[in-house]
Amino acid sequence: MEQVLLFGKNGYDRAKEVKEFDETKGGVKGLVDSGIVKFPRFFIHPQESLDTNSTSCLFHVPVIDFTGYEMCSSRRLEIISEIKEASEKWGFFQMVNHGVPVCVMDEMLNVIREFHEQPSEVKKEWYSRDPKVKVRYFSNGDLLVAKAANWRDTILFDFQDGPLNPQAYPLVCREAVSKYMEHIMKLKEILSELMSEALGQKRDYLESIECMKSETVVCHYYPSCPQPELTFGTTKHSDPSSLTILLQDTIGGLQVLHQNQWVNVNPIHGALVANIGDFMQLISNDKFISVEHRVLAGRVGPRVSAACHVYPNTCRKYKPIEEFTSNENPPKYRETNITEYLAHFRSKGLDGIKALPYFRL
Ligand code: OGA
Ligand code: NI
Repeated sequence: MEQVLLFGKNGYDRAKEVKEFDETKGGVKGLVDSGIVKFPRFFIHPQESLDTNSTSCLFHVPVIDFTGYEMCSSRRLEIISEIKEASEKWGFFQMVNHGVPVCVMDEMLNVIREFHEQPSEVKKEWYSRDPKVKVRYFSNGDLLVAKAANWRDTILFDFQDGPLNPQAYPLVCREAVSKYMEHIMKLKEILSELMSEALGQKRDYLESIECMKSETVVCHYYPSCPQPELTFGTTKHSDPSSLTILLQDTIGGLQVLHQNQWVNVNPIHGALVANIGDFMQLISNDKFISVEHRVLAGRVGPRVSAACHVYPNTCRKYKPIEEFTSNENPPKYRETNITEYLAHFRSKGLDGIKALPYFRL
């Protein structure tokens, strides 16, 4: 019995292996560079989750062309209606002609790759799990609580308390990240207006309730994986944010769960992916849905992505908005704030179980 407690069911000291890996500060990239052909056991996912690896070609994630969003034209209304439909049925859509220059996106992906491919002595300086550190690099944010680790390293930029001085960014990515964020902030404003209208509200609605107040940007690096059939790039999860704006390179591997089938979010050069987060589902009383997605590990890599998670005001409490509730459709969630929501989300780690039902009335 004691043996089981100390070494886990598989008879090895998992906590010790995890700690040793964390202390290398080299991440998954470090393992690959060391030439491993078999990875440590804590990367192996339970058979049940690996069993669901079949992919459906029956469905296609909606692609929305933003050309003409700014005009009081019929096209603007069409865009709003496409966003509404995608947010209700998929919780996901891809955006093209969204105004963020393709060269700015390409450069962003390049510098993320460059950051992660720096000599480990340079990169190590940024390794941290301290949430007070606004720019930090780590492998698996939930490494110490998760049942299985993902084949992924991350550099995170935390803008929750407002803009950061770019001097605080690693030199390799300073310029490109600043430029990218400038453009993403503009797109965020545009999406805030269009989504307000897609919810049947006035254009400034989501802004007035500070639903899209601040951001955390996580820039992921998924090295090529020697045993992709045993692990994931990212475990199935839904985002705790209000909205996520995701940039992915052209390698592929991102999938969304639609009608109980895994559907590829096929990379389109120049496109950005938007997905509804749990908090938007909560305040819209399930009108817009926050859908589970995952990233497959692949033999071909590295894959690089940047997810801008947009969050509501941390000081404010939210509950399902009255307009979305009625006698027939009572509020489905209790009042909460994003700090409490994230605390619950993080306490679980990415375990494949949604955080939202915990807040259900
Ligand atoms: C995320 C996420 C997907 C990707 O960061 O929440 O789902 O493609 N990322 O990296
Ligand atoms: Ni996500």
